[in-house]
Amino acid sequence: MRCPLCYRRVVRAVYAARFGGDHPLSNLAIGDRPDPRPAAGWVLVRVTAASLNHHDLWTLRGVSSQPLTTPQVLGCDAAGRVEELGEGTGGAPAPGTRVVVHSVIGCGVCPACLAADPGVCHRLSLLGEPPHGGTLAELVAVPAANLIPLPDGVGDEAAACLPTAYLTAYRMLFTRARLGPGTFVLVQGAGGGVATAAILLCVQAGIEVHVTSRYAAKRQAAEELGAASAFDPGDLEAARVLVERTGGGVDAVLETVGEATWGLSLRSVRPGGIVVVAGATSGPNPRAQLNRIFWRQLTVVGTSMGTRTELERLVALCASGALRPLIDRVVPLDEARSAFAALAAGEQRGKLVVRVAR
Ligand SMILES: NC(=O)c1ccc[n+]([C@@H]2O[C@H](COP(=O)([O-])OP(=O)(O)OC[C@H]3O[C@@H](n4cnc5c(N)ncnc54)[C@H](OP(=O)(O)O)[C@@H]3O)[C@@H](O)[C@H]2O)c1
Ligand SMILES: [Zn+2]
Repeated sequence: MRCPLCYRRVVRAVYAARFGGDHPLSNLAIGDRPDPRPAAGWVLVRVTAASLNHHDLWTLRGVSSQPLTTPQVLGCDAAGRVEELGEGTGGAPAPGTRVVVHSVIGCGVCPACLAADPGVCHRLSLLGEPPHGGTLAELVAVPAANLIPLPDGVGDEAAACLPTAYLTAYRMLFTRARLGPGTFVLVQGAGGGVATAAILLCVQAGIEVHVTSRYAAKRQAAEELGAASAFDPGDLEAARVLVERTGGGVDAVLETVGEATWGLSLRSVRPGGIVVVAGATSGPNPRAQLNRIFWRQLTVVGTSMGTRTELERLVALCASGALRPLIDRVVPLDEARSAFAALAAGEQRGKLVVRVAR
């Protein structure tokens, strides 16, 4: 499409027009942005479906790994079709191929990138963060190496849930905590996107999953998805009950909530167990309690997103029918504001998906 005034090519997009302040949603805009062009080694994807993440709210609040200065198209997750190949993209999926996009971008030449783990690249960046546009737009430019072709059995809306929440949960459970059938895990903040993904992945892998959530309705919903028990994070008895039920404590805790749940995480994990941290929604500076960490020989590890290989495994799980991402609702791009409002209010049950094009 072209702008009727300047005749430049534009795309419809959801973007942060400003950053910071007390009302992040007031920074949200839906309108036309300059259309992205693919640099050498990059391709253009025509986005069909994108999903929202808490990351988008952080961007609206002005919290980002890169300085935010100009309007920023939001979104890290997308499925779509290859539209146009940039220079030097021989071997990339042909135009028209259905793909899901891996949004982690490394420098491509450091030891981490050469080992196919760009998440620990010293120049790590994500789609939806400067200098890259996001996926909540009709077109997004991505490195050709970040495209994963989609099998017929995986729909665009399901695929659009995978690249952030499901990928992060997958890496927390299987790469970082190395959990397997018969192990026990505590997932904090059951209502969240990462937490919901973790519950579903645990159920399909035979891991006994326990959860916390501030809300009774979300605790019940988590149990309906397969959680063995659900606690209020403020329940002083929760750790004692968990230690009793699991014969000494859970093998791992998935922590994305931070200050509000850190104490419970350290009290619920078994001696020698692991706390995997991927977020700090309620605040990043809990009381560290180093005494518990060394005396009980706990491992605390950080993790972010995941690799292309891990995302491919998730696609395969969906294709086999073992995993069906939980989708709360699908809204058209021009109604994305209502989905952002639900995310900010924590009202969703599962992923909020934006249908960008058919
Ligand atoms: N490192 C990474 O690669 C990575 C990837 C994905 C997400 N994250 C981070 O992980 C966090 C969750 O992301 P998401 O997309 O899953 O978010 P989301 O869907 O918006 O969920 C928000 C989460 O925060 C919890 N929460 C918020 N305030 C809380 C408080 N005061 N006390 C207790 N719980 C609180 C909610 O739990 P209840 O409502 O159930 O109590 C829920 O789990 C975010 O901080 C995000 O930035 C990091
Ligand atoms: Zn690198």
